Amino acid sequence: TSIPVITIDGPSGVGKGTVTLRLAQYLGWHHLDSGAIYRVLALAAAQRQLTDQRAEAITQLAVELQVEFQPLPDLSGTRVLLDQQDVTQQLRTETIAQFASQLAAIASIRSALLQRQRDCRRLPGLVADGRDMGTVVFPDAPLKFFLTASPQERANRRYKQLKQKGIDANLDNLVKEIAARDQRDCERQTAPLTPAADAQRIDTTTLSIEAVMAQLLTSVSKHL
Ligand code: C5P
Repeated sequence: TSIPVITIDGPSGVGKGTVTLRLAQYLGWHHLDSGAIYRVLALAAAQRQLTDQRAEAITQLAVELQVEFQPLPDLSGTRVLLDQQDVTQQLRTETIAQFASQLAAIASIRSALLQRQRDCRRLPGLVADGRDMGTVVFPDAPLKFFLTASPQERANRRYKQLKQKGIDANLDNLVKEIAARDQRDCERQTAPLTPAADAQRIDTTTLSIEAVMAQLLTSVSKHL
């Protein structure tokens, strides 16, 4: 298709979500938080007491999942409805994130969620954030970014973000949980976290959100 996509991949806590939203807002494009799809599946599976041992049942659940994403009025993110219930806040816990990353390592679950993600490619364009947006979901994207930051800095950012959202968090635990999730996401066989060959890499460790945005916008203005 000729509908443009910008992909923004990277590990957890790197700030992808924030810059993806801002870029989509700036361009007037749609945005895809692909992690939220894995998280909402994890929540739905947990509600049904399914563990990652039940890959087949969860794959089926992934196909049938009734999810709706609605932009928040202040454009600060997306409201997520699962079976018509607002689960936005429940998705943000690290427990759900860990379970999401376990499920995300299962190939049949990833393929069940693939088309749902590709369907988000609508005019006038899409900014997509995740782990495999540039490698698997939108390999033909004309512009790809891969953000990194030191593990300590990513844990700090996640900590601040959770506190802001009124979610209880412990920094030492977060460091460990983020490390465990990174390892699982990088080492899995299917769609591991890795930069696409044609992705621009940006180390954001010492950069503010504004500085990251400035770099993204410079590339965007050259490419689009
Ligand atoms: O980005 P977020 O932290 O919300 O993602 C939660 C988990 O979902 C990740 O740790 C990863 O295992 C999985 N995920 C994925 N592929 C994506 C987005 C998220 O495997 N494109």
